[in-house]
Amino acid sequence: MTKESKQTSGYPRARISPPSGEAFPYRHILGIEGLDPSEIQYVLDRAMAYADGEKGNARLRGLTQINLFFENSTRTQMSFEIAGKRLGADVVNLATSSSSIKKGETIFDTAMTLNAMRPDILVVRHGDAGAVKLLSEKVDCAVINAGDGQHEHPTQALLDALTIIRRRGRLHGQIVAICGDISHSRVGRSNIRLLSALGARVRVVAPPTLLPRDIDRMGVEVFWHMQDGLKDADVVMMLRLQNERMQGAFVPSTKEYYHFFGLTPEKLTVAKPDVLIMHPGPMNRGVEIATSVADDLDRSAIQEQVGNGVAVRMACLDILTRHLQGSTA
Ligand code: NCD
Repeated sequence: MTKESKQTSGYPRARISPPSGEAFPYRHILGIEGLDPSEIQYVLDRAMAYADGEKGNARLRGLTQINLFFENSTRTQMSFEIAGKRLGADVVNLATSSSSIKKGETIFDTAMTLNAMRPDILVVRHGDAGAVKLLSEKVDCAVINAGDGQHEHPTQALLDALTIIRRRGRLHGQIVAICGDISHSRVGRSNIRLLSALGARVRVVAPPTLLPRDIDRMGVEVFWHMQDGLKDADVVMMLRLQNERMQGAFVPSTKEYYHFFGLTPEKLTVAKPDVLIMHPGPMNRGVEIATSVADDLDRSAIQEQVGNGVAVRMACLDILTRHLQGSTA
């Protein structure tokens, strides 16, 4: 996250000033790291209004949003597209599998090409940690990180926080157990930062092979066994095994993994009776979560997470384009 506005020749001053003034003095949303609790709360408050039905008055009419996804996505890409359209933006998706990236063009050349078409906001997902930040330094518009490698996925953490607040009334003091492949998960990293910043009691539950080396510095409680980590939990957040980021075997077999770390009704008996079950998707049923738990009508918030994703992304698009809104009418 960078507080400085970048000077770029040939662009009107309005394009490079902080979009929402003091409340959110950033050009981009690249991660949760570096955000103050009040800045996170500001985004959540806007998202709450959209989740409550605020329409947004076509605030982004006349603005161009490009979604640039170098990695697969269903929920994130679709919800950014729907969010942009609900706010009246012209939304364009670059299908990277059929673009010149396949002809060997670097992401920076692709970014510069898109930049020359003067988008107002770029939403980028990339397989390498740090790639979205580097790209943001090369373009003249706002950039939102839709996931960079195993580094950060800020809008996912924001929608998870919104889901907990809407269901439980607050985040502060809630015991949140994040379980599974913490090591390779950008969702886990962003959530640890955001939930801790807003006063939740964050636990991670994973086999030692799936815990990052620097876990002791993340300010969380660490558990190797589900029955210990889930005890009295208010929220249980399951993560997928990120096989695409693993080099070598991190678990003996998925069957054994499910036995010890898969979320089942039996393992949940030690949590609070009204525990909230969450998963960012895509789910691997029978690996990290049992079907009966995922589909538990009372306790599962998995579909609400998806719905709240649209509200959070509307808030982020709105906040980062404040200085441009109305200028094209
Ligand atoms: C996550 C991601 O891409 O990091 N999915 C998502 O955005 N909803 C989690 C995952 O892929 O397991």
